[in-house]
Amino acid sequence: MKGLTARRAAAVPRPAPAAAAADRDAANRKVPIHSADDYAGMRAAGRLAALTLDHVTPSVRPGVSTAELDRIIDSFMRRHGGIPATLGYKGYPKSCCISINHVVNHGIPSEDKRLVAGDIANIDVTVVLDGWHGDTSRMYVVGDRTTVKAQRLVDVTFEAMWAGIRAVRPGATLGDVGHAIQKVAEGSRFSVVRDFVGHGLGRTFHEAPEVRHFGRPGDGLVLRPGMFFTIEPMINAGRHEVKILKDGWTTVTRDREPSAQFEHSVAVTEDGVEVFTLSPAGLDRPPYAA
Ligand code: MF3
Ligand code: CO
Ligand code: CO
Repeated sequence: MKGLTARRAAAVPRPAPAAAAADRDAANRKVPIHSADDYAGMRAAGRLAALTLDHVTPSVRPGVSTAELDRIIDSFMRRHGGIPATLGYKGYPKSCCISINHVVNHGIPSEDKRLVAGDIANIDVTVVLDGWHGDTSRMYVVGDRTTVKAQRLVDVTFEAMWAGIRAVRPGATLGDVGHAIQKVAEGSRFSVVRDFVGHGLGRTFHEAPEVRHFGRPGDGLVLRPGMFFTIEPMINAGRHEVKILKDGWTTVTRDREPSAQFEHSVAVTEDGVEVFTLSPAGLDRPPYAA
């Protein structure tokens, strides 16, 4: 599958403990450990990705087409020496993804898709700068008012992402991260999408590790300084099941209930976590208007 790493089929039998340990060792060996210079590259790329979302924010208004937002994003990245990583990625046709209401991810910008007051929309941008990838997304509430349910979904998704980020430190595991996210989402009776996961990134867009947004404490990869990955939970107001439309990209909730997502690119540091994609303008969560 495309875009976010699609999770392997859930029907794989759980390995015996010895095999599980061997699996984990194999996964651990594939996760790049980056150098101090690499952090500098990611800081610059992450900052440009975040600035791109800051820049498009005032244009996210009722009536604007998602194609227009895509053009604003594409030209801002290029003006600042970056390249949109999604354009041409596995055949993806645009410079960002815009996913509205029951669209979970990978919504393709289009001239005839216009934002309507009350929509909730995710804008996901990935920029390549000097060979490094910055990948981040935020939710927008179009016209600054939506339903109580959709607003709660946006707020809980933001908190869930941050619970995951706060769980990142050397010696913690990806199971700890997934569990922290799942606890916040399910604690509000929302559900965590299983079929798409976060991912390692750096000189490549998508690499090891696979970052699930659900899990059990102590399971999975042990985090070490020098690991770079995204945390990008997709949380549904209804059930977790999704389906991909015939365009091969657009993913929607099967029950057509709304879905929300936020994403940051992060690193494990010697004493915790560094977030590469914080908003320089402080526009990390809605409402964004003054
Ligand atoms: N930016 C998305 C992510 O968070 C990936 C989009 S891939 C695309 O990993 F091809 F759909 F653009
Ligand atoms: Co990502
Ligand atoms: Co992204």
